[in-house]
Amino acid sequence: MKIDILTLFPEMFEGVFSSSIMKRAIEEKKVEVSLHNFRDYSKDPHHKVDDTPYGGGNGMVLTCQPIFDCVEALKKENTKVILLTPDGTPYQQGIAYQLAKEEHIILICGHYEGFDERIRTICDMELSIGDYVLTGGELASMVVADSIVRLLPGVIEEGSHQNDSFNNNLLDYPTYTKPRVFREMEVPEVLVSGDHKKIEEYRYQESLKKTKQRRPDLLEK
Ligand code: ADE
Repeated sequence: MKIDILTLFPEMFEGVFSSSIMKRAIEEKKVEVSLHNFRDYSKDPHHKVDDTPYGGGNGMVLTCQPIFDCVEALKKENTKVILLTPDGTPYQQGIAYQLAKEEHIILICGHYEGFDERIRTICDMELSIGDYVLTGGELASMVVADSIVRLLPGVIEEGSHQNDSFNNNLLDYPTYTKPRVFREMEVPEVLVSGDHKKIEEYRYQESLKKTKQRRPDLLEK
């Protein structure tokens, strides 16, 4: 998979792409990630990427030209162009699975007070990572990229994400590791019983209980 990210702040991504699982996935060529500063595509003599809004109002608005030209330079036949915006479709694990099957994704990070509405016409999808407003789409695109990359074949053990929260609309069951007793808190007996059928049933019941308590909306789906 190839992920191209359009941003005015490529330096924000340094730590995320040079650490942990993301770093390994890039090194092992499971994914190729490229950052593009769309200011480099601006035809303005001063490399401007924004302007004042028609009709008046506060702040600056990202202009069409640099983003259109950058997307057109990168886009191939099977590219999915995604805009990160607080008014996009709420991002969920199901969308991560769907996007993990794509060959090529372009993530566009909006910034400042907003972007020219016509930028939406070159996008196949608009995603929001939650009902709050960030200073830009950078953190949102990191969230989307991270959640997709971990699902790519060979990035983490296949079994690790089969039990993830949100698969089957259930939250994950509780897990424990050594020691068996820590500050008088004991690991549930069933987990040391060696009875795999019982363990499976216990985990399912715990997932169900947690989901009912914390996210009953998931069970309604
Ligand atoms: N840009 C600013 N806020 C955002 C959000 N919540 N999701 C996606 N992109 C954003």
